[in-house]
Amino acid sequence: MANNNLMVGLEIGTSKICVVVGEGRTDGTLKILGVGQAPSRGVRKGEIVDFETAMKCVHEAVVDAEQKSDVMIRSVYVAVAGSHLQSFNNRGCVILPEDRDEIDEQDVEDVKINAREVSIPAQNAFLHSLIQHYHVDGQEGVLSPAGMFGQKLEADFHIIHGVRTRIQNTIRCVKELPLDVEDVVFSGLASAQVVLTQHQKDLGALVIDMGGGTTDYVLYADGAVRQSGCLAVGGDHITNDISMGLRIPMARAEKLKIEEGSCILGNCLPGEMILLKDDSGFAGKEIERETLNTIIYLRLREALELLKRRLDEETYLNYVGAGIFITGGCSLLNGIDHLASEIFELPAYLAHAQSTSGITSAVENPQFATVIGLVKFAQVMHSDRPPRGLGRIFGKLLGGMR
Ligand SMILES: Nc1ncnc2c1ncn2[C@@H]1O[C@H](COP(=O)(O)OP(=O)(O)OP(=O)(O)O)[C@@H](O)[C@H]1O
Ligand SMILES: [Mg+2]
Repeated sequence: MANNNLMVGLEIGTSKICVVVGEGRTDGTLKILGVGQAPSRGVRKGEIVDFETAMKCVHEAVVDAEQKSDVMIRSVYVAVAGSHLQSFNNRGCVILPEDRDEIDEQDVEDVKINAREVSIPAQNAFLHSLIQHYHVDGQEGVLSPAGMFGQKLEADFHIIHGVRTRIQNTIRCVKELPLDVEDVVFSGLASAQVVLTQHQKDLGALVIDMGGGTTDYVLYADGAVRQSGCLAVGGDHITNDISMGLRIPMARAEKLKIEEGSCILGNCLPGEMILLKDDSGFAGKEIERETLNTIIYLRLREALELLKRRLDEETYLNYVGAGIFITGGCSLLNGIDHLASEIFELPAYLAHAQSTSGITSAVENPQFATVIGLVKFAQVMHSDRPPRGLGRIFGKLLGGMR
């Protein structure tokens, strides 16, 4: 991996482990060179619960990505998820000494540190401090204050934090392979990097990444992240409900959900049945289509309403002008955009990674939004000047692992 333009993202998801090798082009575009995958084991609700097993799966996915891309992988950007992640908005303030009136890079760094001077639970660590807006001597909407004249620098940040040891477990799983961890990124934030355009962020947008065990969300208003988090509910819960409700094994319930499922009710003929085939291909049990769809509808509705209640704790949903963008594996569920639109009373769209080239099947698959987003994040970090709203603060977490 001697080429500086090569970047690798790794998501240890609940359903699949995925590694993407990308190449940053000089014109700022991103090309996907290879995608490695392995089914995920030892992961629940986005977090590692069986270290050794998860590590083997990660290794498998890395080897697969190396073979597909013909690149030797030495370091990765890793996604983190889990319902322990929390976020809040806070303002930092720095007053310049009287003998100086030009704001410098150190002041910009200090205001970020100041914004983090709030008490978070003792076991937690900061994951991201995302700039929303700077204010210089009361002037609002300053994008880049370094070099400006002023006495008082203030800045509003969106801060994401989580349980240190739970984040470090993910890092350790990768480091023992051994691979270097370049940075850790909240998976929802990674997805948003490739799902949304800057224009959509400016208009206000909500990204929902619904995977197997988690639902990550990131809400942008006026170009900046205002709310974010991770709910411990995903497609596996739907599969589980189907398995219990129809008394069929989990593997068959999963297949049924993917091949026949929908969350739109009242769309099938009265008494319309689905004939389940057993593994040898012979017809077995019959189930009513509307019953299947009702199970899916109820669980999905519950998950989306839970998210809406969480977002309604603040007022930012009122500033979502572009709409809701649903990605992750569950976005493939028939009708999910209609249901989200009805619940949130906003337009809702199905989304996958944009503005990337290379392996089309990967780019267009919403299950890869997070991992492609990681590569995009890496590309932004490699560029001379990361745009407003992204910043790395990862040193301390990684440092603890060295
Ligand atoms: N065609 C489909 N229709 C409905 N659901 C689907 C389809 N394809 C995949 N899924 C569901 O998507 C989920 C997996 O999504 P994804 O790959 O985004 O999860 P993950 O990233 O591994 O998990 P997480 O991010 O929650 O830890 C599973 O619940 C799976 O059943
Ligand atoms: Mg995921």
